[in-house]
Amino acid sequence: MLVIIADSSHISYATIICDTIAESASHRGTGIAKRTPEYIISKIENGNAVIALDGEKFAGFCYIESWGHGKFVANSGLIVHPDYRGQKLAKKIKKKIFDHSLEKYPDAKIFGITTGLAVMKINYELGYEPVTFSELTDDPSFWNGCTTCKNFDILSRTDKKMCLCTGMLYDPKKKNETHKHEYNRKVFKRLKNIKQHLFLKKKSK
Ligand SMILES: CC(C)(COP(=O)(O)OP(=O)(O)OC[C@H]1O[C@@H](n2cnc3c(N)ncnc32)[C@H](O)[C@@H]1OP(=O)(O)O)[C@@H](O)C(=O)NCCC(=O)NCCS
Repeated sequence: MLVIIADSSHISYATIICDTIAESASHRGTGIAKRTPEYIISKIENGNAVIALDGEKFAGFCYIESWGHGKFVANSGLIVHPDYRGQKLAKKIKKKIFDHSLEKYPDAKIFGITTGLAVMKINYELGYEPVTFSELTDDPSFWNGCTTCKNFDILSRTDKKMCLCTGMLYDPKKKNETHKHEYNRKVFKRLKNIKQHLFLKKKSK
């Protein structure tokens, strides 16, 4: 398995990347920002993407976005093809794009918003901390990406202060060390359940 910085020789994978993202989103029934092949190609051409390949076969992808005039970067659009899940490939892709982000944008804070426990775990192990949305970029173009998410009404009604996603932030100035404490899946799961209960107004039994 090859996990590398994507270049122009990988442009032909843009469609399968978009299709795999869209299929996974509809399968999970969760919100996701939509991506076009043109957008994916621009990330590849700018050296801002990581691709995983099993020979010629597409296995996974992730890209860098820059916000707030380079003060923040996000590692977005993480996708592992269903055939390659559960083999720690997401971890390898995230580590590669994280190291690449630190190298290319050494002064930027790295952040992400996600509802996925796998991503929370990976981010936490890389040194991200869970934060409120107020700690993240206020660049409107980042938050505009949420308009295609099915939970956008929640973000609107909370005045962009909170949503089902958890914000996570890595500040390179604060620390250069990995976590000494363990990721606690129960804590993140409970946080997610509480948010879903509050925002989706689930009826009690
Ligand atoms: C989420 C996704 C990227 C995980 O890819 P993967 O290669 O199977 O993940 P890994 O094997 O690297 O797993 C990393 C860790 O997350 C855990 N994990 C993986 N999938 C999980 C899930 N669905 N729920 C909870 N934890 C999960 C793994 O157990 C592993 O933890 P461990 O190190 O303690 O064993 C993949 O399922 C996917 O592409 N899903 C659809 C798109 C998506 O959700 N993207 C994230 C958008 S924010």
